[in-house]
Amino acid sequence: MRFFFLGLIAVSVCVVSRTSFTTPEAMAVDLEKASTYNKDVLPILESNCFSCHNAKKKKAGIDLQSGFAGVQKIVKPSSPDDSKLFKCLIGKGAKLMPPKSPLDEKQIATVKAWIAAGAKEK
Ligand code: HEC
Repeated sequence: MRFFFLGLIAVSVCVVSRTSFTTPEAMAVDLEKASTYNKDVLPILESNCFSCHNAKKKKAGIDLQSGFAGVQKIVKPSSPDDSKLFKCLIGKGAKLMPPKSPLDEKQIATVKAWIAAGAKEK
């Protein structure tokens, strides 16, 4: 009987530690799956970047409003750390964007996950 309880405790410890290990990974995968250009990334750019990066006001020669091609120019698919679009959001390796009101962590994570997943248009 005593062994039965010891066994039960051992099993529950395993289950609990396994759960706590897999949860953050599972969340990261969810975020990657959830990040699509039109649904997740475009609205962020629209409200935070278009005002300065459009066809008329092309700051730094970058037009993000006129279509996906403009966005592609500052993205290296699957490599957020080599993408200006991600580097400028954290202000490392590029000027911090938007200049005066940085995005929140969740928005930055959304853009990063989208680039990491291949930066697909659809
Ligand atoms: C208030 C205007 C404004 C907003 C809003 C803004 N930008 Fe910029 N952006 C600029 C200006 C001005 C520059 C040129 C900076 C310089 O060279 O001093 C620039 C430059 C850049 C660069 C080149 C940076 C570099 O170091 O090479 C990138 C990439 C960029 N912006 C992306 C974005 C993104 C993405 C957003 C939205 C998240 C954004 N910008 C929002 C004005 C803005």
